[in-house]
This record gives sequence, C-alpha cells and structure tokens, in this order.
Amino acid sequence: MSLLMLMVMSALAKNQAQARQVFNIDDFGAVGDGKTDISKVLYNAWNRACQSKGTSVILIPRRTYLLGPVRLVGPCSGAIELQIEGGLKAFHSPQLGTDHWITFRYIDRLTIAGGVLDGQGAAAWPYNDCSKNVGCKKLPVTMRFDFVTNAWIHDLTSLDSKNSHFNLFACREVTFERVTIGAPKDSPNTDGIHLATSSNIFIRDSRIATGDDCISIGTGSTNINMTGIACGPGHGISIGSLGGSRNEQPVTRVFLGSSNFTGTQNALRIKTRAPSYQGVVSDITFQDIIVQNAGNPIIIDQQYCPYKTCSSESSQVKISDVRFRNIRGTSSSLVAVAINCSPAVPCTGIELRDINLEYDGRGGKASSACANANGAAYGTQNPPSCLKK
Ligand SMILES: *[C@@H]1O[C@H](CO)[C@@H](O)[C@H](O)[C@H]1NC(C)=O
Ligand SMILES: *[C@@H]1O[C@H](CO)[C@@H](O)[C@H](O)[C@H]1NC(C)=O
Repeated sequence: MSLLMLMVMSALAKNQAQARQVFNIDDFGAVGDGKTDISKVLYNAWNRACQSKGTSVILIPRRTYLLGPVRLVGPCSGAIELQIEGGLKAFHSPQLGTDHWITFRYIDRLTIAGGVLDGQGAAAWPYNDCSKNVGCKKLPVTMRFDFVTNAWIHDLTSLDSKNSHFNLFACREVTFERVTIGAPKDSPNTDGIHLATSSNIFIRDSRIATGDDCISIGTGSTNINMTGIACGPGHGISIGSLGGSRNEQPVTRVFLGSSNFTGTQNALRIKTRAPSYQGVVSDITFQDIIVQNAGNPIIIDQQYCPYKTCSSESSQVKISDVRFRNIRGTSSSLVAVAINCSPAVPCTGIELRDINLEYDGRGGKASSACANANGAAYGTQNPPSCLKK
C-alpha cells in the first residue's frame, strides 16, 4: 500500500471518528455491577457528548448498571445516541424524590437504541394510592421526553416501571420502533406510552403488556400513527381521558392500524370526563384490528368519572369523525360496541365498517349500544349496528 493511500485512509478514519464520537461510560468510571450508582458518571458522559459536534454515541456496555434519577438536558451541539447494549436498573425504593427516573429535555436528534430498562416497580406499586388519595405523591415515570424533537427509540425494552413506562410532552417527530414494554397486568398506572401536546409521533411494531393503557393519548396530540402494536394484557389503547382541565387542545388525526389486543380490559377507547371542560376529538381511525378475549372492544365513554366528583352534568368534549374499520375477533363483554356520547355535544361522523365481534363467554350474544351518536354503518355488522345503515 502506498504511503499516500495510507494517509488518505487515516484521514478518512479520523473524519469518521469525528462524525461519530463514542463515549463509553466505563471510560468515565462506570461500574456495571448492578450496585454502584452511575448517575454522576452518566452526567459527565452526557455533558461531554452533548457539547461535541457531529453524532455522539454514549455507549452503555453489555452489563447491568444501577442508575439513580437523572435529567439529561440539551440543547446539544449535535445528534446524540444512547446505545444501550446492557441494561439500566432503577433504585428499588418506591420514590426517587422526582417524577421521573430518566428524563430527556430540550433535545433535537436523539436516538435510543437497544437495551433493557428495569424500573424495579414491584416495591413501588403498593404505594400507588392515587385512585383514593387526591393529594397522593406520584410515582416516578421510567422515561420522560420533554421538548424532544426528531427522536428514534428502537429495540428498547422497558420492564416493571414504577408509574408509566414512557411519557412524551411537547415532542415532535418521535418514532418508537420494535419497543417491548412489560409489567404485570395488575400493576397500577403502568401505562406503556403516554403522550400529550405532541405531534407527528409514530409507534410501530411494538409489544406492550402492562397494567394500564398500552398507549394513552392526551390533550394536544395530533398526527399520531400507530401500526403493528400487540397490546395485552392492559387496558387497551385510549384517547383520553379528556376534559379534565381547562383549555385542553384538540386531539386530531390519530391512526391505529394492523394491531392486536389480547386479553385486554378494553381495546379501542375514547373517554372523556363528565362533568368536563370543553374539548375536541376528531379524525380518528382504527383499522384492521384483531381483538381476542378483550372487554369493550369498541368503546366511546363520555361519562368517565374516576373520582368521587361525578354529577349528572354531561361532558363538553365534542367527538367527531371516528372510524372503526375491519375490527374483528372476540369480546369478553356482552356489549362489544358501546358508543356512549354526550347529550350536550353528541358525536357526529361515527363510522362502523366491517365489524365482526363474537361474545366469547357463555349464554349470550354480543350486542351494540349507542347513545347520542350520529353516523353510519357499512358492510358486515356483527353485532348488529346501533347506528343506522
Ligand atoms: C401510518 O404509517 C404507516 C406506515 O408505518 C403508513 O402506511 C400509513 O399510511 C400511515 N397512516 C396515516 C394515516 O398516516
Ligand atoms: C396480529 O395477529 C395476527 C394473526 O394472529 C398476526 O398475523 C399478526 O402478526 C399480529 N400482529 C401483531 C402486531 O402482533
């Protein structure tokens, strides 16, 4: 090989190294024994990575590292990739003194690749009393994304979160792909992915088994595209609950396709509070869905009242243009299709197309029930539609 070629090659290699600089946490003094808290080390690695231009890779080698609560904040000078070859384990204690385990904030171009997050939730779940205690202390969410844009979270596993697994707030252009989420079906409030005030969010080819909603979509969410989701156990995929606070922004353009629900408490759900503040839900499509032994496969519930503040006042959230297309399988509840809209602002543009749901219990046939619902049914309707043809 000529000297010139060697020089060219080494220059190229240098260029590449500049383009993708790796920060191995072990080089910063991390000990992967599952007992030594690496949060200070991770901060140091993060600060270095965040300040360097080009793509910075923070490498977490193939071991299990104990990690205290951290908030990894940008903006950074370049793209950041957290490559988790091993696992991160949260403290065992129920509270971490914050509302999160790992938070990413103000970051553009973030990738999280591979690895296992173990939230060690089992010790925390007994302390979740938020259903009874209004002043309850919220348990920490495994991973929060606040003001994160252009992110790709892939091949990542999250287990036994203390509260929700993933929470997105004020994010844009975020893709979850081949993510696995797991927590026992009786673990409280362990939502898989909760998002609010976010747009252009893609969730693809992911398996979610948990104790609350597999995915829940809150106020101000728009352009949400979910495909290839296997949900169950869990409470299904839910829009809402909405209407619980003043000035909520609309939830629009939500698409769920080619997904399965197995043994879930609900499958396709929109829920709003009653009484409620004003709100808007529109342009929602659920398409090509298989449910197996799921309760409430199709449910719009505008009378959702989790606390003891219920009254006879109706919801003020307007729901329109919601399409259920090619939904089939078995229901564990007799009312397989329940569309219970608000008498104050009835639903409009509800579409039921090719619905085939059997009751899989004994002694009954699946039925559908509508209230204050306007729209039309097309194609197969089993159970017979409660909307006019
Ligand atoms: C959702 O994404 C899938 C690919 O992941 C695409 O085929 C589909 O057209 C998208 N749907 C909408 C409504 O954007
Ligand atoms: C849903 O179930 C069908 C039929 O069993 C299967 O072919 C498909 O791959 C499943 N999809 C997901 C996302 O699990």
